[in-house]
Amino acid sequence: MRARHVLDVDDLGPSGLEEVLALAERDDLAEVLAGAGVALVFEKPSARTRSAAEMAVVGLGGHPVYIQGTEVGIDEREPAEDVARTLACYHRVLCARVRDHGTLRRMAVALDAARTGVPVVNLLSDRAHPGQAVADILTLRRSLGRSDLSGSVLAYVGDANNVLRSLATAAVMVGMELRVASPAGYGIGEEDLRRLQELAAAAGRGGSVSTTDDPHRAVSGADAVYTDVWTSMGQEDQADRRRQAFAGFAVDEELLARARPGAVVMHCLPAHRGEEIAAAVVDGPQSVVWSQAAARMPAMRGLLAWAVTGDATVGAARGAEPGGAARGAGAGPCG
Ligand code: NVA
Repeated sequence: MRARHVLDVDDLGPSGLEEVLALAERDDLAEVLAGAGVALVFEKPSARTRSAAEMAVVGLGGHPVYIQGTEVGIDEREPAEDVARTLACYHRVLCARVRDHGTLRRMAVALDAARTGVPVVNLLSDRAHPGQAVADILTLRRSLGRSDLSGSVLAYVGDANNVLRSLATAAVMVGMELRVASPAGYGIGEEDLRRLQELAAAAGRGGSVSTTDDPHRAVSGADAVYTDVWTSMGQEDQADRRRQAFAGFAVDEELLARARPGAVVMHCLPAHRGEEIAAAVVDGPQSVVWSQAAARMPAMRGLLAWAVTGDATVGAARGAEPGGAARGAGAGPCG
């Protein structure tokens, strides 16, 4: 039995992504996790994700349990598989922010092998950040004023990192034209590019992805301009090299002037003013970064509801039964 793991947006597929977006907009899901625990394991710092996830669990009627990575010591104190199987004894969902994406895969495999029915939800890894991507699509829909984003142009300027990988996947699924501008050596890899092109074709919404090393070209006429830090968590020893490599890739007023008038500016935060984004831009009238931050909570609510319900008819099915969601936990190794 394979649970509905969400390691990246690919796990949702285009229809699952639409279901998650629809669930994120609902406010009648208070029974979905009634009586259930949700483990939130963090191997890295978090400002938005932890609070968004905790409050999303509360909104679904569940109980979040925050666990620092050092407490459980994944692959130090005990193997990731044992951590996962232990947490599945008490929790309906295992959410984790990890250094190595492979840890999430191993946890998911272990939970499925033990037939726990407990899904793993990625709260950011070195490879992906699906919760951010869902929040970003919600924000784009709201700020551009259209639920159908097909044909809208999203320019991403900067490091082709975890945030971009998930964002790109979601963007092509909903039919956006994604343009990515990165310096040589920091762009989307061949394999990811192929995967995104295949996904865009399979989704059939007209989505596309192109790459360039010219930020001006990417931003020209764009509806939205997105950037993220040049040095992600875990890459701190590369900061100087990256700062040099990314010179000329800052999103500043001059670059933004190339976008469509009224284009929105996005950043997943934390922002480094004067580095990847100018203060006048991130704090300026076109910035929607605080809407993005706010959208993290409904996005998590949608993802968690999707992961535990098996379909989009939440509320009518298992969520309506008190403790319905909770019964999933403990069915495997401890049940
Ligand atoms: N790319 C950044 C995103 C932080 C939310 C990082 O991984 O540190």
